[in-house]
Amino acid sequence: MAYKDLDRLSPGSVDTTLKSIDKIDIDVNESLNILDVGCGVGTSTILLANHFKNAEVEAIDLFMHYLDVLDEKISKNNLQSRVFSYRMDMNDLDFANEDFDIVFAEASAEIIGFKRALNEWKRLLKPEGYLIISDLSWIQKPSSKSVKFWKNIYDEVDSIENKIKQIKNEGYEFIDYVTVPKEDWNSYYNKLEKNLNKISSDKSARDFVGQIKKEIKHYRENSNDYSYVFYIMRKC
Ligand SMILES: C[S@@+](CC[C@H](N)C(=O)[O-])C[C@H]1O[C@@H](n2cnc3c(N)ncnc32)[C@H](O)[C@@H]1O
Repeated sequence: MAYKDLDRLSPGSVDTTLKSIDKIDIDVNESLNILDVGCGVGTSTILLANHFKNAEVEAIDLFMHYLDVLDEKISKNNLQSRVFSYRMDMNDLDFANEDFDIVFAEASAEIIGFKRALNEWKRLLKPEGYLIISDLSWIQKPSSKSVKFWKNIYDEVDSIENKIKQIKNEGYEFIDYVTVPKEDWNSYYNKLEKNLNKISSDKSARDFVGQIKKEIKHYRENSNDYSYVFYIMRKC
């Protein structure tokens, strides 16, 4: 209900995703294999398929109710011949080694952690394949309030500089990064907040809604401290 009718499950926009995928040096007409990990309702899955016109895009998520929404989009866009959704756990990705030219993960790597994602998803990439992951990052020296807030939710939030070091330590060539702008966060949180205000207040919903509202309030008061940042890298 909280996420009902939202076109994405994280702060972002078509413009920001496009800016990130434009960093990679691949002809958009090539026939590519692309994986979208933790695709949610698949707005970026469809964007990837429309951008890379001859690509086959496989999209995985743990939850069928999101994949059902993506499946509707696949049909609406007539992409059944080259976009495929699977219910799959990112802890155990059932794909062969070196299957993909691009592995894309928007606001989902945090489920297993950025470092583990860098390490485990490398095997899925063809030589010189690209990994594009967005991850929560400090975009300035954060206040102690922000550090305390995120420590208990996602303990891998770190500076962009340290994230780039981790990328290099895992043996990737770092290409560039793109920071998700404030307008993407504001637009996402405004829509989410409207849904939250419609949810009835039984005890379990109250705790859940309260937690998300706290997150929104915290962002509005500390938006200079952190953002999702897309990291673009290549397997060496
Ligand atoms: C913050 S949402 C991001 C969704 C989408 N990439 C977007 O940006 O709109 C994280 C997604 O990861 C999915 N997810 C959570 N745990 C997962 C798991 N273990 N394996 C695969 N997907 C998972 C959720 O269902 C959700 O769709």
